[in-house]
Amino acid sequence: MLRLGVNIDHVATIRNARGTPWPDPLRAARIAEDAGADGITAHLREDRRHITDSDIARLSTEIGVPLNLEMAATGEMQQIALRHRPHAVCLVPEKRQERTTEGGLDVLGDERRLAEYIAPLRDIGSRVSLFIGHEPRQIEAAARIGAAVVELHTGLYCDLDTEGRHAERDSELAALKQGAELAASLGLEVHAGHGLTLDTVGPIAAIPQIAELNIGHFLIAEAVFTGLGGAIREMRARMDEARA
Ligand code: PXP
Repeated sequence: MLRLGVNIDHVATIRNARGTPWPDPLRAARIAEDAGADGITAHLREDRRHITDSDIARLSTEIGVPLNLEMAATGEMQQIALRHRPHAVCLVPEKRQERTTEGGLDVLGDERRLAEYIAPLRDIGSRVSLFIGHEPRQIEAAARIGAAVVELHTGLYCDLDTEGRHAERDSELAALKQGAELAASLGLEVHAGHGLTLDTVGPIAAIPQIAELNIGHFLIAEAVFTGLGGAIREMRARMDEARA
């Protein structure tokens, strides 16, 4: 079955906008779990703009589904991951000025350092995932350095759909499918995410090699209108429908 990882970063964004303890990302994680999320994803950014160290500490011990800790490949983040031993660590490129993770990781250009960086994370049993684009050379580099998982960046596909650029969207989708096939053929588990909505999730969920989708912003936005549990259940149904 295709798994759904719910990214709760933007619950913390709303909390931090007012400096109150609410809304609490841990409460969101529990609601997500009850609504059928298979995992919780949280991105501890270097600038702590949403999720904080204390959120990670609480999520690590107080949720009943696996935690996927998203982070930049820095020394500080490695220490935090080694301390909390999350089920999975997803390495992402991070820029201070960006609104969200803009591109994929350049595994090829940083291959040696990343191979050394992920070794202790693998040693403690965390599944290391690399957030990358669908370029074959990046996928091959991810396999060479011993990552367990690649998460394919679906942001461009979603943007092209929103902008009504359907021919370009379809060729981006075809490239994602080829990327998923290549990654699976190299023994990598394939995940995907970024920007997915009820409108865009279907064709991605239908790619048979994809084992997990990570979805955040749309679900939290939708929760304003339908509640978080309802938003997650609707997404789950759309994924299952596409996979069937
Ligand atoms: N996967 C990764 C690696 C991400 O960085 C993000 C955004 O934090 C997501 C998935 C979820 O993207 P969105 O919030 O747009 O659904």
